[in-house]
Amino acid sequence: MSGAPPAISIRGLGKRYRIGSYLPTGGTLRGWFADRLSAKARAASAESNKPRYIWALRDLTLDVPTGSVIGIIGRNGVGKSTLLKILSRITDPTEGTAELYGKVASLLEVGTGFHGELTGRENIYLNGAISGMTRAEVDRRFDEIVAFSELEQFLDTPVKRYSSGMYVRLGFAVAAHLDPDILLVDEVLAVGDLSFQRRCLNRMNDVAQTGRTVIFVSHQMTAIRRLCNRTIWLEAGRIRDFGPTGEVVARYESESLGGAAPGGSGSREGAAYKARYLSWMRDGAPAGEAHVLSDLAPVAFRLVLDVRERIAAGYGGIEIFDPEGKLIWSGASYDGGRGDLALDPGKHALIYSLPMLPLKPGAYKLHASFYEREGRKLLDDWWAAPELIVSLPPSSHPDDEWQGILNLPCGLRVERE
Ligand SMILES: Nc1ncnc2c1ncn2[C@@H]1O[C@H](COP(=O)(O)OP(=O)(O)OP(=O)(O)O)[C@@H](O)[C@H]1O
Ligand SMILES: [Mg+2]
Repeated sequence: MSGAPPAISIRGLGKRYRIGSYLPTGGTLRGWFADRLSAKARAASAESNKPRYIWALRDLTLDVPTGSVIGIIGRNGVGKSTLLKILSRITDPTEGTAELYGKVASLLEVGTGFHGELTGRENIYLNGAISGMTRAEVDRRFDEIVAFSELEQFLDTPVKRYSSGMYVRLGFAVAAHLDPDILLVDEVLAVGDLSFQRRCLNRMNDVAQTGRTVIFVSHQMTAIRRLCNRTIWLEAGRIRDFGPTGEVVARYESESLGGAAPGGSGSREGAAYKARYLSWMRDGAPAGEAHVLSDLAPVAFRLVLDVRERIAAGYGGIEIFDPEGKLIWSGASYDGGRGDLALDPGKHALIYSLPMLPLKPGAYKLHASFYEREGRKLLDDWWAAPELIVSLPPSSHPDDEWQGILNLPCGLRVERE
């Protein structure tokens, strides 16, 4: 992918907004009188009237190769929409540059790009003209746009009478059917109903399949996962993480959902103990993937247990919890008739192996415990850190409500009976 020429090239991009009130003390007559009443109030008011600034975006440098589908995620107010507004030239950056190579179509906040007094039909032609199409070109795509939006009946209604869902339908239909080289879509899709959202995702996928570039902002991680190969996680106007979608989204979800598991992992040092887990990794994992699972091959978890005093008979347990906190698998050192473990002081690796782990993408919590047989005494109870990041691609079923628990691609044969 890195070999493709860039569709978007961003260098040191920053956007500063001015915030706070510029009116004298709220601009009311009462405020004016109050100001006259005391010099102190006057001084305070002068202070609050000083313009304040925030950087909605800062130091963004990025190349987006042609044909890539990039997701943008992050909490409210981190600069996602600001970035798309700069890319679609609705607002200018304060510093830096963003070069876009090709025809750009965007679907931003509800209403952007439409003229309220004009009808749906007129807005379609207006948008076509703005993106440099001739009337004949728009004519050719017109029926497709209308069919996609399912707004035939309302084509001659001024769009100011449209509901927000109708706006988005028309906006998306226009943006996605005007043959853009670069399609920018902000999370407005969520306003549409479920079937429309699904059609939009499919359409964006089609646009991407034909080698166009798509940038998609959303809070819906399922949609981001389905559509985007790579994802940018923005935090306070800067790039916090940028990489393969499965991994970035998993890290983002893991942090948003509170990071540390119930009980917390805490520091593993200090205090006296008889046995304690120190770390874990995927046994035999390639460098940089020690806590990542990205295929359906056999998998083994290597847990390092530090034993301080000899344990004559003990046993360990391991559990995996899904991103919602549901227990999905558990195993123990004595499973399958294996007996208790006798461990001398020192570090031991307990390696639990499984034929495969067909999990959906996400951040999974591993929990490990170790008991001494006598009196079933709990020696350690550990919410393993870091979490297990599963980045297997979803097993392709397109409809969210039919997503099951297992992430297993299915085979198919058709035979004549
Ligand atoms: N026109 C503006 N004037 C002043 N501040 C603005 C303006 N537009 C955005 N901001 C500020 O810039 C920051 C980034 O806003 P932005 O809309 O890009 O966030 P976002 O990531 O799209 O958030 P959300 O997930 O809520 O859509 C916010 O602090 C916001 O208040
Ligand atoms: Mg936004």
